[in-house]
Amino acid sequence: MSTNTLAIGLEGIAVAETDLSLVDGTNGLLVYRGHWARDLAIHHTFEEVAHLLWYGHLPSEQELADLQEKLKANRELPAHVKGIIDLIPADVDMMSVLRTAVSALGTPAHAWPPSLEQVIGLTAKLPTIVAHRYARLEGREPLGPRADLNHTANYLYMLKGTEPNPAHVRALDAYLILTQEHGMNASTFSGRVVSSTQSDLISAITAAIGALKGPLHGGAPSEVTEMIEAIGTKENAEPWLRAKLESGGRLMGFGHRVYKTIDPRATALRVVASELSADDPWFDLATHVEKVGLKLLEEYKPNRKLNTNVEFFAAAVMRAVGLDDSLFTPTFAVSRVVGWSAHVLEQASNNRIIRPQSNYIGSMPE
Ligand code: CMC
Repeated sequence: MSTNTLAIGLEGIAVAETDLSLVDGTNGLLVYRGHWARDLAIHHTFEEVAHLLWYGHLPSEQELADLQEKLKANRELPAHVKGIIDLIPADVDMMSVLRTAVSALGTPAHAWPPSLEQVIGLTAKLPTIVAHRYARLEGREPLGPRADLNHTANYLYMLKGTEPNPAHVRALDAYLILTQEHGMNASTFSGRVVSSTQSDLISAITAAIGALKGPLHGGAPSEVTEMIEAIGTKENAEPWLRAKLESGGRLMGFGHRVYKTIDPRATALRVVASELSADDPWFDLATHVEKVGLKLLEEYKPNRKLNTNVEFFAAAVMRAVGLDDSLFTPTFAVSRVVGWSAHVLEQASNNRIIRPQSNYIGSMPE
């Protein structure tokens, strides 16, 4: 029987060379195409960083205007996609709706290799899908996109139906930039695997959305708020977290496959969240839960190097800008579609089908 090198969870295995991002888990560093992600989040916008990831450089004024124009021109959903969203029962979760709606967008025949036009068209529509569904669930008529607003401001406007608060737009933009790209994470890998078969962009992104949904990946932030709410008071933090660890449970928003030190996105988002949440008792409780959680993880899981991850403070930022829990993971997808699609383009530019092995441990026929 043939035995291949076994790498459960593919830990420590590289499946591609990329110039999109460096995730340095030992030193807690995150670089997008030669730029610190943290600096991009402070000094640039969603559209500028998307341009960097898709085209390889930050845009000139003209390039930025062109990209903004293309994104705006592609925000509307085809009627059949709106119809499909409206047919999905209200108790189906938002990520399933997003996955279905993206899938329904479809691509023309012979849509491989994927193009930048397809990538921009798709990225522009994700916020509209989420906002359309959210408005329906709230019993409101969905608002159309507003051409005078940038990507992030328009997303907030469509979700809330009110003029977006500039501080909220800035905070959400920082979150959306810091989560656009993150190396060969599970959803990006899923997208690359699909693309490596020469399947189309929509199929790749549909697969990536399915992978992002899980609580060990992008599904964690709403579980962070559930955890904080279940804890309820500072006094209850230690007994609650201890009971969770005693029963073999995981603390949501802690730990990371790659980061064995503080997740740099968590560091940056902590600042963003604290600026908006100075007087918010929820944030005060969350930072207490973080402190106690870190102490207990050191006690129960010594030497595992478990720190707060991006999801812990993503929950805090999204809550601070007034987004409902049900929107946390879909909003992650609104951002990460940029990285997924950049990887799909990169995969297509130097493609070899991704086809690992498994080792058979069953019995043989008599
Ligand atoms: N709480 C308690 N124990 C943990 C946690 C946690 N959050 N994370 C890891 N451990 C323990 C785990 O029980 C194991 O202990 P032992 O050696 O005694 O069996 C050890 O640490 C190693 O865990 P692992 O499952 O081998 O680690 P992994 O690299 O496969 O998992 C992870 C990474 C993110 C799935 C995991 O840390 C986790 O489940 N965290 C909670 C969920 C979460 O916050 N997810 C968001 C991740 S960040 C967003 C993203 O980039 O996708």
